[in-house]
Amino acid sequence: MKVGIVEKPGVLTLAEREIPKVKNAGDVLVKVKRVGICGSDIHILHGKNPFAVYPRVWGHEFVGEVAAAGAGVKSVKTGDRIVVEPITYCGTCYACRQGRPNVCADLKVFGVHADGGCAEYVIVPEANAHLLPEGLPWDEAALIEPFTIGAQACYRGDVRQGDYVLVMGAGTIGLTAASLAKLYGATVIVSDLVDDKLAYAKSRGADFVINSGKEDMPKRVAEITDGMGPNVTIDAVCIKKTFEDAVLVTSTAGRVVELSFNETPSEIAPVNIIKKELTVCGSRLQTKRFPVVIDFIRSGKLSLSGFVSKVYPVSQMAEAFDYTEKNNASVRKVLISFE
Ligand SMILES: NC(=O)c1ccc[n+]([C@@H]2O[C@H](COP(=O)([O-])OP(=O)(O)OC[C@H]3O[C@@H](n4cnc5c(N)ncnc54)[C@H](O)[C@@H]3O)[C@@H](O)[C@H]2O)c1
Ligand SMILES: [Zn+2]
Ligand SMILES: [Zn+2]
Repeated sequence: MKVGIVEKPGVLTLAEREIPKVKNAGDVLVKVKRVGICGSDIHILHGKNPFAVYPRVWGHEFVGEVAAAGAGVKSVKTGDRIVVEPITYCGTCYACRQGRPNVCADLKVFGVHADGGCAEYVIVPEANAHLLPEGLPWDEAALIEPFTIGAQACYRGDVRQGDYVLVMGAGTIGLTAASLAKLYGATVIVSDLVDDKLAYAKSRGADFVINSGKEDMPKRVAEITDGMGPNVTIDAVCIKKTFEDAVLVTSTAGRVVELSFNETPSEIAPVNIIKKELTVCGSRLQTKRFPVVIDFIRSGKLSLSGFVSKVYPVSQMAEAFDYTEKNNASVRKVLISFE
């Protein structure tokens, strides 16, 4: 079978490997149909992900069909269409005991710490296989994982009906957070530097958009919220300044959700947190968000159509990475197809 491997930083190859066999009673063999290229895959390719171990089969956003199931598997069967939740955890550490396995002390992310989904066949534990809504096209199903990231950001920010939510960044992740915040009944403001991205955010339901390169973002946000500020600010731009701005613009008793893996410190005066009693939190990957996103799709509330920018056959994997990198200003999601 074909597998996409980052052999070492800078070297991406399409290799041949044996099709794996189900050995554990609780495992399923997945015939992969689509795998999405994420910013973090590009970081792994360039040696910029501190957690990646090489060589590594890349890919954490993948969907496919169950090709075989171990004797103990109950929730899925051969032929079922599934999306893979790409993390495993110990189940016993402090984070796991708090119901937060996404930050498990022994967290393993497929495609980062363990081999991922850019392979014709992949073995995953039954618990990682979630049934897809009936009839959902593969190209849309592959977006479920990124939408769980937006769902987690809203969960961490405790987005509530009637809240004003500012989502900084109309890239892939910002768009997913904005979509989920709308579903939770918030008034959603999205900021970015690219007008086309803002127009797309608007077409997906954002109530207000701000080009922070052309407009005074804090001033506009204050106007929109009648001086209060957004109750939740989600930083999906992830640079030094956006974290600083998030703390400054958020309302009293508000929540700031930081998504950045950036190691550059931001300059934040503690008084700006305590005087408004802000909750400032990180949001990493997701926990229990797959069923949430799948239910929104199943009920017709969340549409993923039109989100994918381009689909490449696996034979053109290198071109797909190249296209994604070179078109960052317009690309939302590029997929690899194994069909
Ligand atoms: N915490 C997590 O679990 C998690 C998961 C996925 C991604 N991320 C992080 O989220 C961030 C966004 O990911 P993405 O895939 O959406 O990236 P992306 O490049 O698609 O989106 C970033 C967006 O920010 C915009 N932008 C840049 N500078 C800006 C500014 N000063 N003001 C407003 N907008 C600005 C860009 O135009 C772009 O649309 C990345 O830093 C990524 O590492 C975190
Ligand atoms: Zn991703
Ligand atoms: Zn754990």
